[in-house]
Amino acid sequence: MPEIHSLLLEKRVFKPDAAFAKQANWGPKKVAELRRLAARSPERFWEKMAREHVSWFKPWRRALDWKPPFAKWFVGAHTNVSYNCLDRHVTGENAWRRNKAAIVWEGEPGDSRVLTYGDLHREVQKFANVLEAKGIKKGDRVAIYMPMIPEIAIAMLACTRIGAPHTVVFGGFSADSLRDRILDVGAKLVVTADGGFRRGKPIALKAAVDEALTGAPGVASVVVVRRTGEPVSMREGRDAWWHDLMAEAPASCPPAKLDSEHPLFVLYTSGSTGKPKGILHTTGGYLTHITATTHAIFDLKEDDTFWCTADVGWVTGHSYVVYGPLANGATTVMYEGAPNEPGPDRFWSIIAKYGVSVFYTAPTAIRTFIRWGDEHPNRHDLSSLRLLGSVGEPINPEAWIWYHRVIGKKRCPIVDTWWQTETGGILVSPLPGAVAAKPGSCTLPFPGIEPEVLDAEGRAVKAPQGGFLTLRKPWPGMLRGIWGDPARYKEQYWSRYEKVYFTGDGAHFDKDGYLWVMGRVDDVMNVSGHRIGTMEVESALVSHPAVAEAAVVGRPDDLTGTAIVAFVTPKTGAHANANLREALRGHVAREIGALARPAEVRFTDALPKTRSGKIMRRLLRDVASGRETVQDTTTLEDLSVLARLHAPDEA
Ligand code: PRX
Repeated sequence: MPEIHSLLLEKRVFKPDAAFAKQANWGPKKVAELRRLAARSPERFWEKMAREHVSWFKPWRRALDWKPPFAKWFVGAHTNVSYNCLDRHVTGENAWRRNKAAIVWEGEPGDSRVLTYGDLHREVQKFANVLEAKGIKKGDRVAIYMPMIPEIAIAMLACTRIGAPHTVVFGGFSADSLRDRILDVGAKLVVTADGGFRRGKPIALKAAVDEALTGAPGVASVVVVRRTGEPVSMREGRDAWWHDLMAEAPASCPPAKLDSEHPLFVLYTSGSTGKPKGILHTTGGYLTHITATTHAIFDLKEDDTFWCTADVGWVTGHSYVVYGPLANGATTVMYEGAPNEPGPDRFWSIIAKYGVSVFYTAPTAIRTFIRWGDEHPNRHDLSSLRLLGSVGEPINPEAWIWYHRVIGKKRCPIVDTWWQTETGGILVSPLPGAVAAKPGSCTLPFPGIEPEVLDAEGRAVKAPQGGFLTLRKPWPGMLRGIWGDPARYKEQYWSRYEKVYFTGDGAHFDKDGYLWVMGRVDDVMNVSGHRIGTMEVESALVSHPAVAEAAVVGRPDDLTGTAIVAFVTPKTGAHANANLREALRGHVAREIGALARPAEVRFTDALPKTRSGKIMRRLLRDVASGRETVQDTTTLEDLSVLARLHAPDEA
């Protein structure tokens, strides 16, 4: 893995500030104690987290039941996620939070809403009653396809209240992608909106739901939030307006007492095949993991205002916009739209407007802000900030330093958090009052987590050598499987090494035990912090009538981390020209979603293949990134293909 050998030469170290450490939820002493406990027994550590951070209706008999690769956490316990996010903040000793802001929401056009814990508690119960009135029972699946408006959190929490697993589909996905997910998960009901605002324009969503449902007869009901006011068609008997249903709904709905392993949600993510995987998370372990990590890593205090900029359609939005902050009784900010609407300073104006104190975003956004210029953040009062976070891809040290200097004014610690859809919550990150940061490294594992870097044979490599990032021990927030496909679960994560979870990432430890994640080593690209499978884009391309064959690879990109490059062999008679190139880019966006649109389409009359017919992606990656091919080409079927790929194409 040459990319892993090219070690970053970053030497700077940022120690926690003494004043920060003193006030931290987890200061150095506490962290040392917890690490000792976790080293003796990760289970004891997680039990402590479960007792301190989660409210249970019934205690567990056993912390962990581990039959690799299947884990059960807090076996026999009963709890409810919406109870933990709502009821316990409006009753008992924390009843005063009833009038505390739970969600501070800013719409792109500049409208705003604040929902207190009391408001959210009421709305969630009402919507839970709406779901039940529509025939949704414990175990039934609900699909959610919505813009970033408070109703998305209300819908999710209402599902958790009655034990109906939700699957949130990011609003940027196409009707086809939505249909695939609805069918795979077997959803009975869809919650959506007429649309949402993005870059100053209303973007329709209901129309995509209508299209998706033409091939999904299992969906009996659609609930539609009126957001943009644009006209939509409502199908009699199937579709109803959110506001009409809510006006009729009874105000009270007790939380279901759910088993700790009751399915909480399914979230689809790209893998190395053409079909996205439905990652299954369950109740008690996930809740423990995200509640504890939110408390410790984001250091949330009662008076903090936390803003995680992720869309709720991704796992970061599930864990750290909705469930983690609300379970902690914190104030969470939600913003509907684009970072440059109406101007490139929108994020900074939101931070100043609401006094955001903890801010969590992605490296790709940070690199974009650098490009837009310091004058935009510098125009706003960012003095409320006290802690910054990064997630989704490796943060390059230059971006880290800019974030620290221009946004954090050199006062704010930065937590670079490594995790995945599959891990449920953060696994590796600085604890901001106790762990020194090194720009570009996600630093040390959370207590109870023991990542290992292995070579191809499964031997632990010596620091600072690179290898495959793995985990041997289960953790509470880990995925419980791939929805409806246990064989694929085993194959995907547990087959490279026996009884070891393979993350798909390459990484290395340094001499201080700090982890440096280098990126994906499988056929998954990380574009602007979002996972896209090369095979998904390939199958979208070959579904176009002019395409005979396609191969897709990622190449490094300064802004988006990875850019998608498609090598396409057109069918005989098709015109390989600029029109077709644009048509193909548009076709992929329609098939999957705009996030999968290739940055580049290159036409070629043949793809480099091995003698057994496998496409040689390594070579294509070299070609796409303009590197001279230094790879072994002995198995290449036709060397002239390579020469032609390097030559500038005519179209
Ligand atoms: O490659 C790693 C990268 O994002 C992948 C997980 O993507 P996803 O499931 O979409 O979840 C993204 C948000 C948690 C990982 O396999 N990744 C995520 N965070 C980091 C990262 N790479 C380096 N540093 C990080 N902090």
